[in-house]
Amino acid sequence: MNKIIAANWKMHGNNNFVSDYFEFFTKNLKNKCNNEIIIFPSYLHLDKANIFKKKYNSFKLGAQSCHFNNKIAQTSSISADMLSDIGCDYVLVGHSEWRNNNDEKTISHILQNVLENNMVPIYCVGENLSEKENSKTESVIETQLKNIIDNSDLFNNKIVIAYEPVWAIGSGLTPEISVISFIHSYIKSKLLQKLPSLQEKDIMVLYGGSVNLKNTKEILKTNNVDGVLIGGASINIEEFTNICNEKL
Ligand code: 13P
Repeated sequence: MNKIIAANWKMHGNNNFVSDYFEFFTKNLKNKCNNEIIIFPSYLHLDKANIFKKKYNSFKLGAQSCHFNNKIAQTSSISADMLSDIGCDYVLVGHSEWRNNNDEKTISHILQNVLENNMVPIYCVGENLSEKENSKTESVIETQLKNIIDNSDLFNNKIVIAYEPVWAIGSGLTPEISVISFIHSYIKSKLLQKLPSLQEKDIMVLYGGSVNLKNTKEILKTNNVDGVLIGGASINIEEFTNICNEKL
């Protein structure tokens, strides 16, 4: 099966960066790259990125979050229907850099809005350092997966989860490869156990947290890893293009 390679730009980029990024990317991406590439720019740069998406058809577009409501008077917010209208295919839901200020109910409403607007959520889960040190990784993830299970009737047989240990994000640290494989397998088996109508092929689990050109290949070849969600290294367009061109 093809892998997902996703770039989360977080709060980076400006107008020139967007043009330079996509011109370089499309020129240097090898034709034989069969992976699904998804770029998550800031809200501000989605429109411009969508012009390149339509022009080159070499990547999908995603937003980094959205509001839990549609069409209400909520100054400064962006709704799921706006994202769909502007060309988004995916939305990150519950990223840890955002999750801290929001409760599980809010995250559940966002999931619903994304699904009802025909986009695919990439639902982020993962433990923080103290949870890891207290051997709570599985129980934390099990709690976080409840939102997926509760909203399972809205999914169109494609569930994408990103396992992003909070302590690995931006730290240069990654879990042992065997741990990544184990946690991904744990996520898949929990979902299959709770949602017996699903098949294993309906669930993709991406790994995120300090992924770079040096470690991508090993991570992508690991059992149960269906892709990667990359922060810092995705801002460097040469590095990101090389990651996408890796032969697996
Ligand atoms: P880094 O790749 O910079 O660790 O960020 C990971 C991440 O948060 C992707 O969503």
